[in-house]
Amino acid sequence: MPRSILLMTGDGIGVEIVAEAAKVLDLVNRKFSLGLEMSEAKLGGQAYDEYGAPYPEATQVKARAADAILLGAVGGPKWDGVERHLRPEQGLLDIRADLDLFANLRPAILYPQLADASSLKPELVAGLDILIVRELTGGIYFGEPRGIRTLENGERQGFNTDVYSESEIRRIAKIGFELAQKRGGRLCSVDKANVLEVTVLWREVVTEMAKDYPDVELSHLYVDNAAMQLVVEPKQFDVILTGNLFGDILSDEAAMLTGSIGMLPSASLNTDRQGMYEPCHGSAPDIAGQGIANPLATILSLSMMLRYSLAESEAAQSIDQAVGRVLDQGLRTADIYTEGTTRASTSEMGDAVVAALSE
Ligand code: IPM
Ligand code: MG
Repeated sequence: MPRSILLMTGDGIGVEIVAEAAKVLDLVNRKFSLGLEMSEAKLGGQAYDEYGAPYPEATQVKARAADAILLGAVGGPKWDGVERHLRPEQGLLDIRADLDLFANLRPAILYPQLADASSLKPELVAGLDILIVRELTGGIYFGEPRGIRTLENGERQGFNTDVYSESEIRRIAKIGFELAQKRGGRLCSVDKANVLEVTVLWREVVTEMAKDYPDVELSHLYVDNAAMQLVVEPKQFDVILTGNLFGDILSDEAAMLTGSIGMLPSASLNTDRQGMYEPCHGSAPDIAGQGIANPLATILSLSMMLRYSLAESEAAQSIDQAVGRVLDQGLRTADIYTEGTTRASTSEMGDAVVAALSE
């Protein structure tokens, strides 16, 4: 049976970058006889515009049936006035919850060709290779009760609930430990156990589990310290394991350390290894439609897809190598441009990867 890949551009630059990734996917599909069948669906603002919901049933049906999903990005100022539960971002949260995509892997890698792009000194970031494992379907993002209520004195009060059950902690920590085993053997669990009970439990459960992974060196950091350590000495980290909210914040910080958020892919997986793959950056409405966005994070998301959901590591590696070759050639989109390199548009970059793959 052919495996089915669902492509969702989403909003803003999502449209342009997924178009480039689709070219690459078509090529590797043929070149490696992967037998993949592609289809499309709408998510986020574009889905709201067409169906009145950011994760409409038409998309849900296709998403549930897909072996893997490639997403561009969602959101934009156009939908600022829309009610919260119909906003583009809600579509993203809904599909994560619907498919139980609890394991979010966000690598922060410094490409040697882009060493000058970081705002940190080159020696601090040279060779940087961190993997953030973020819990994606629990914690304060989804905890109940939540809302905005009016108190007796007429004042309004906003409230959310940060909650993690043992089983939720266990299943994400298992992913963290296993990935650490395959990488540098170090796992740093990030919490706020000096204040929040939910993370006291988090730390207890992760510590207990460490017995089953004697080859992994486990450490713990409070999130404020982790945020600081990331800019002081980022190379001390191998795998960072953390909850939904802290992972959201730390992954942006780690991505920016590389100076090239336009280069970073991500994977969101469930227990069946079904996954949604997307660039770490957002929909960048300010540059949408101009043909200057960097498609490489989306193209590299394909490589993660081939590796994690489709077990096609040879095809994945060929994409990684093609991207490396294009960077070696000196091609740069605006976000990673430095003097002495060659400026490329979104489609020129996509075409260059396709050309490198065809060699
Ligand atoms: C992310 C984004 C989302 C999140 C938003 C768009 C809902 O910031 O994927 O990191 O907070 O998870
Ligand atoms: Mg975020």
